Amino acid sequence: MELLKKLSLFYAPSGREKKLSEFIKKEISGFADEVYTDSLGNLIARKKGTGKRIMLSAHMDEIGVVVTYIDDNGFLRFADVGGLYTKYLAGRRVIFENGTEGVVFTEPKNDKNALLNMYIDIGAKNKEEAEKIVTVGDMAVFCGDYTEQNGTIIGKALDDRAGCFALIEALKQIKSENDLYFVFTVQEEVGLRGARTAAFGIEPEFALAVDVTDSGDTPKNDKISVKLGKGAAIKVMDYSVICDRAVREALVSLAEKNAIKYQLEVMTEGGTDAGVIHFSRGGVKTGGISIPTRYIHSPSEMISKDDLEAVIRLITAFCEQ
Ligand code: CO
Ligand code: ZN
Repeated sequence: MELLKKLSLFYAPSGREKKLSEFIKKEISGFADEVYTDSLGNLIARKKGTGKRIMLSAHMDEIGVVVTYIDDNGFLRFADVGGLYTKYLAGRRVIFENGTEGVVFTEPKNDKNALLNMYIDIGAKNKEEAEKIVTVGDMAVFCGDYTEQNGTIIGKALDDRAGCFALIEALKQIKSENDLYFVFTVQEEVGLRGARTAAFGIEPEFALAVDVTDSGDTPKNDKISVKLGKGAAIKVMDYSVICDRAVREALVSLAEKNAIKYQLEVMTEGGTDAGVIHFSRGGVKTGGISIPTRYIHSPSEMISKDDLEAVIRLITAFCEQ
């Protein structure tokens, strides 16, 4: 999946989605009637129709780090951009927009607590040299790698580039009378910010957020019923939204009618764009289709190719009905 690989490897932490947005714009421009960007940076592709106005969203941004201070020896102190788990960080490499890579480490080596004791080493000799390369406010993301094996895909930022990929692929094949808005949102990871203005501007009747969801199929995790390989996850609720019942039931019956593998999802941590779309203006009937994912927000998120295919088919079926 060459396109998904490209999307995954892009540098696009929250608020720095512009280049990724330009890339997606090129990728989809032949398939939409109108493509534009709103003030916040959300990329919106409209496929005009006389039927229902439906908004689909997937966020472009990924979690990352931001430089807060450069010390005399050229080591960078940083804060998180989005929900970063410190235990995934020591020994990892991160990459800045200008291509500079740095090693994240912590002192003492077995320090359990904290971002506060962590730093990024870009190999600079001192502060002066470091400041020629990076500055306070620069953001970095996990260095990329991307693997496809045993029917899975492993990589960084599959949250939510896998969702962006699903929207792009769906857009390319949908034939529908409905008025469709494919929205590639910004700043989801720092509080569902982009989806808020996009939904207000579009004023949809229905919406679907396409994002990743946690899976409960790792050794000690049995409280979540979602599993890799068991199909598209139809969202019942997460901490940001209780999905519209009719939308959820429509998704279930479409999946059954079209023989698309699906499972029901209750996410007990975090939220998605659906969280702000559903209470935009006077309210929007909103649902969610999710891609089951292991190790969310780590540099090695894992999804199933079959699930991703199922998600694309279910989005398509929903838009075409
Ligand atoms: Co996320
Ligand atoms: Zn996400």
